[in-house]
Amino acid sequence: MLERDNLRSQTRGDPTPGMGAADLERVLAANISSSPVDLHHAFNANQIASKTWLLDRLHDSLGGHFETVYILGGWYGVLGAMILGDARFAIGRVISFDIDPGCAPVAERINGEEAARARFQAVTADARGVRYDPCGAGGVPNLVINTSCEHMTRTADWYGRIPDGMAQEHQSNDYFDCPEHVNCIASLEAFKDELPMSDLRYEGTLPRRRYSRFMLIGKK
Ligand SMILES: C[S@@+](CC[C@H](N)C(=O)[O-])C[C@H]1O[C@@H](n2cnc3c(N)ncnc32)[C@H](O)[C@@H]1O
Repeated sequence: MLERDNLRSQTRGDPTPGMGAADLERVLAANISSSPVDLHHAFNANQIASKTWLLDRLHDSLGGHFETVYILGGWYGVLGAMILGDARFAIGRVISFDIDPGCAPVAERINGEEAARARFQAVTADARGVRYDPCGAGGVPNLVINTSCEHMTRTADWYGRIPDGMAQEHQSNDYFDCPEHVNCIASLEAFKDELPMSDLRYEGTLPRRRYSRFMLIGKK
């Protein structure tokens, strides 16, 4: 059954949920010697709130068992660390794809323990070239997540590659003022039109101070 909500009442202003102690410990333990200048953005209140929201609604909508999870535009691997460290989820492995070659080494440090156990892998690749067949980087995934939709032009080029019926969860936003956002979306309705699903399990909006983040969960 489709769950729909608008979290305005729960998220008036920016509530700054922050990271859990375990997440912070993981980052400190990673001991990244030459950290990228924007690394702190990956851990800011908005980023962590949107990913906490993603994990909560994912568990409600599709459960917690996924053998292989693909994350498109996975940046520095924070979402990978959060889902692998969340006791509600039983995940075989996470493959995090990002087009920026500077992301993979950082993501693999942040997920160092899981990378050593082959439960996390960061791949430098364009989401518009990712394969979802047995010859892909991680074989056939059971779940595809893209929280970077606003950063990727030509949506059909990455969305069109995901096989029909595959479980998926995607986020975008209406933060048009950010120059890196080459593909913002004006509303949740427009996001649904852009990413049609045969079985939509959840749609929602997370209001922030300067923009709204939209999320869809379901099966393509
Ligand atoms: C700023 S980050 C992520 C922001 C987003 N709110 C989140 O936390 O998921 C956006 C990432 O998307 C990546 N990216 C942009 N276009 C891409 C593409 N075509 N394929 C893979 N990664 C891409 C960028 O390199 C960057 O690391």
